Amino acid sequence: MQAGIDQIGFYTPNKYLDIVDLAYARNQDPNKFLIGIGQSKMSVADQTQDAVSMGINATLSYLDKIDRAKVGLLIIGTESGVDQSKSASLFIKSALKLAPDVRTFEIKEACFGMTAGIMVARDYVRLHPHHSAIVIGSDIARYSVNTGGEVTQGAGSVSMLIKAEPSILALSNGHSAYSADINDFWRPNDSAVALVNGKYSKEVYLDFFKRTFTDYQNKTDLETSDFSALLYHLPFVKMGFKANQLAIEGQTEATAKRLETNFTASAQYSREVGNIYTASLYLGLLSLLENGALTPGALIGLFSYGSGAMGEFYAGEVVADYEKVLDRRADEKMITRRQKLTVTEYEEIFNEALKLPQDNLELKSDEETGYWYFAGTKDHVRQYKQK
Ligand code: COA
Repeated sequence: MQAGIDQIGFYTPNKYLDIVDLAYARNQDPNKFLIGIGQSKMSVADQTQDAVSMGINATLSYLDKIDRAKVGLLIIGTESGVDQSKSASLFIKSALKLAPDVRTFEIKEACFGMTAGIMVARDYVRLHPHHSAIVIGSDIARYSVNTGGEVTQGAGSVSMLIKAEPSILALSNGHSAYSADINDFWRPNDSAVALVNGKYSKEVYLDFFKRTFTDYQNKTDLETSDFSALLYHLPFVKMGFKANQLAIEGQTEATAKRLETNFTASAQYSREVGNIYTASLYLGLLSLLENGALTPGALIGLFSYGSGAMGEFYAGEVVADYEKVLDRRADEKMITRRQKLTVTEYEEIFNEALKLPQDNLELKSDEETGYWYFAGTKDHVRQYKQK
C-alpha cells in the first residue's frame, strides 16, 4: 500500500509589496534583491490574517473534494503560533467541521514543522489505510522594517491531504535526518519578529543539505541522476539555487539541465509570495507540479530545513494524471489577485499587525467573500469568521 499526497491547497493574503519598490526605499540596488536574493514580490498579511485563518483558507480549496468523515488526523506545523498553549489546529478543526474523534495538534521546529507533520501522517496512514490526514503549514515571516531579513519576508499556507493510494505524490519509505543545537534563527517569547544570524544560517542550510542528501543516497543506493527534480526549503529563491548548484556539481549535462529546469519551475511561486516558513518547501512542490514537465513515476527529492536546526531529505514518485487533481488557474489567481501596496502602506500594515488587538474590538477584513479571517478577541478568546 502506498501513502502520500492526495490533495494540495494554497492560500496567500491579498496584498503584496514589490521588491523593487522596497529596494529603492532602502537605498539598495534592485538587482541585489531581484538576482542576489532571487525575489520579486512578497505577500503581506494584515492584522486579520494569521496562521489559523490562512490554514483554513488553504484547506478550503480542496475540502469539498474529500471525505471529511475519514480524516482521523489534523496537524499544523507553524512558527507563527497564536497561543502558547492551545493548538492552532483546534480553531481550524472547528471551521472545517471535522469529526470530534479527530486527533489534532500543533508541531514546532521552525520551518521543519510541516515536514514533521507529513512524516507523522505518512506513518499514520500506513497503519490506518482507511483514514486520511490533513497536514497544514501556515506562517507569516516577519523580520522587521529596514533590516537585512526584510526582503525575505512573506505570508501564506499550504495544506495537504495525506492518504492511501494518493493522486499526486506517492511517498517513498525512509528518510535521512540531521539535527544540531545551534542559533542561526529564532524568535524569543517576547518578540513578534525573528532574530537571525543570516550569513551563518545560509552556511548551515547548505551543510545540512549536503549531509542529508549524501546520507539518503548511501541508504537507498539512489544517485543524483535518478531524480527528476530536487526541491528545497525556499526562505528566498537564491538559497535553494545555491543548494541545487551543489547537487549538480560533477553531474552530466542532461542531469544538470533537468535539475536546473525543474528548480526554476519549483521557484516560480516563491519568487512572488516570499518566505512562508513551514510551507515554503511545499509551495515549491506545488509550483513544480503546476509549472514543470513531469512524467508519471518521476522521482522527486525534498530537502526540508528548520533553523535551530533540523534537516531532512526524503522522496516521492509522481502519480499519473496528478495534474487533473490540481487547479493551476486558481493557484495563479491566488497570486495575481493581490493588491499592490506602497512601501509606506506596507510599513503601516506591518507595524499595526505587530500590536496585540484591543480586546472586544471586532476587526474587519477586506478579503473576498468566502475566505476566513481573524476578527479580534472577545473576552480574550480569539474569534474567526468567514467573509
Ligand atoms: N546584483 C546582483 N547580486 C547582488 C548585488 C547586485 N547589485 N548586490 C549584492 N548581490 C548578491 C550578493 O553577492 C549575495 O550573493 P551570494 O549570496 O551569492 O553571495 C546576495 O546578493 C546577498 O547579498 P548579502 O550581502 O549577503 O545580503 P545581506 O547581507 O543583505 O543578507 C540574507 C542576505 C539572506 C542573509 C538576509 O536577507 C537574511 O538574513 N535573511 C533571513 C535569513 C534566512 O532566510 N536564512 C536562510 C536559512 S533558513
